[in-house]
Amino acid sequence: MRTPLIAGNFKMFKTAAETAAYVVELRELLKDVRGVDVVIAPPFTALHAAAGAAAGSAIGVGAQNVHWERDGAFTGEVSAGMIRETGARFVIVGHSERRTLFGETNATVNKKMNAVIAAGLTPIVCIGETLEQRDRNETLAVLDRQIKEGLDGATGEQLAAMVLAYEPVWAIGTGRNATPAQAGEAHFHIRQRLKQWFGLESSERCRVLYGGSVKPGNIASLAAQPDVDGALVGGASLDPKSFLAIIRGAVV
Ligand code: PGA
Repeated sequence: MRTPLIAGNFKMFKTAAETAAYVVELRELLKDVRGVDVVIAPPFTALHAAAGAAAGSAIGVGAQNVHWERDGAFTGEVSAGMIRETGARFVIVGHSERRTLFGETNATVNKKMNAVIAAGLTPIVCIGETLEQRDRNETLAVLDRQIKEGLDGATGEQLAAMVLAYEPVWAIGTGRNATPAQAGEAHFHIRQRLKQWFGLESSERCRVLYGGSVKPGNIASLAAQPDVDGALVGGASLDPKSFLAIIRGAVV
């Protein structure tokens, strides 16, 4: 059985001080919660404070992006080793905002995934179709390409230890979540492909999250889908109480 994972993507919200205060509050709220893993991904500048405030708790900390080189003349970039030093253990890779606003491709996603694994961290690799692609019935083909090219070269062992997030682009920040049936269909397809390309055992161990307008009111029906192993949450993760409600709703 896969333990569900709820990850909060803060995007460009919260200072280091605000993040630390959030973690203190979330720790208290999570005291009697079992059976679900929790990760928060604040901005780079808050990673160290977040990891410090989360130390000794079950809350994991993740970055939202990474550069694939260890170091070098790459102004404004941050490497996986630098992220690890902050105490963070996860890195979101290929979020759709990175793909659409900052030109990331499946090829850069692949390099980043490799760098994250090489640093001993866990990648949360995001995939998902745009509205135009869905309307043209290309959803499953787009997912196939993102998995094949984005995860190219990963071993079954590596796949088993990583996290994928299916986030239909049209559902992110729009208040329009995929229906449980739409999420279920995409997740079933993803699991089939993972099985085909990485083997049964690895595919059964890899956690695949759903993301896109997840709220306290819709998490239970999404998490009830057999191949949905939790959620990547944007807006609704910014308030610890609504994040807690989502975390509780993911335990089915
Ligand atoms: P949202 O964002 O929950 O605000 O739709 C999800 C995400 O971008 O990961």
